[in-house]
Amino acid sequence: MHRSDGSRGLHYPHSANLLDVDAEHLSTKTLLAIEGLHAKGDTQEILRGVDLQVGSGEIHAIMGPNGSGKSTLVKVLLGNPAYTVTAGTIVYKGKDITAWPTDERAKAGIFMAHQDPEAISGVPVIQLLRQAMSARKQMDLSVLEVRVAMMEWMKRLDMDPSFAERHLNEGFSGGEKKRNEILQMAMLEPDLAILDETDSGLDVDALKIVARGIKTIRDSRPNLAVVLITHYQRILEEVTPDKVHLFIDGRIVSSDGPELAAKLEQEGYESWRNSLALIGDTGA
Ligand SMILES: Nc1ncnc2c1ncn2[C@@H]1O[C@H](COP(=O)(O)OP(=O)(O)OP(=O)(O)O)[C@@H](O)[C@H]1O
Ligand SMILES: [Mg+2]
Repeated sequence: MHRSDGSRGLHYPHSANLLDVDAEHLSTKTLLAIEGLHAKGDTQEILRGVDLQVGSGEIHAIMGPNGSGKSTLVKVLLGNPAYTVTAGTIVYKGKDITAWPTDERAKAGIFMAHQDPEAISGVPVIQLLRQAMSARKQMDLSVLEVRVAMMEWMKRLDMDPSFAERHLNEGFSGGEKKRNEILQMAMLEPDLAILDETDSGLDVDALKIVARGIKTIRDSRPNLAVVLITHYQRILEEVTPDKVHLFIDGRIVSSDGPELAAKLEQEGYESWRNSLALIGDTGA
């Protein structure tokens, strides 16, 4: 298929897919396709052949033991320079973004909530959000516009309005940090959100608020794809995944429906590791 603008095949017309407003036509498409992804940190290989496909509007969960490389995958997906991709590709909206810098990925609609969000002293939350939103929407938003949208979401997420003026994550409690990540996700209107243990460290009420927040965001933007990295089934009871993936030793070794989450939480990861070792398929 050739387009009049010269773009070919599965590639979307350039420019259009870099903005959230054009997400609708992607509804039945693969949004993210990771193939054979290998990446290393300083020396050691951490990702050892990750394959994952996420369609627009889909919810995926990734579960797996501590140290298996889940957070590394998140960092590599956002182009963190501490990691080097040694093989494989990351294709997003039909474009190979494997070598793209972080800010380009964010502008194109990829959002990450990190497991341990960093504090940035001296910069109020509202100012950072204004910068990020202006970059994402490619227009200069006023403080007032950002404040109005922010207050609305803070109310929904049961956050104290004083947050807007506080410095990012400085002195935030564990739960406050996680809520703040959801606030950013709501306001940046991504097409793909990857949430790394956003449910960890939350009390029962806060977990419900965060889960409800994710659902509300997605209800207002049904094409939003969400990848939840978690150790607990609980959040998946609130935000039902289309697919659950088991991540062991740097790659996805099994994928299934939501029932896999229950099974993993009940049986633990050891039995899987053992059966993988038996068939000589540990990826070592
Ligand atoms: N920059 C780096 N250089 C070297 N090793 C690293 C680097 N980053 C992470 N690692 C190692 O890679 C492994 C995977 O770490 P990662 O944080 O991705 O695990 P995880 O699956 O997210 O674990 P958890 O469930 O505990 O969050 C760990 O052994 C970690 O120490
Ligand atoms: Mg992690």
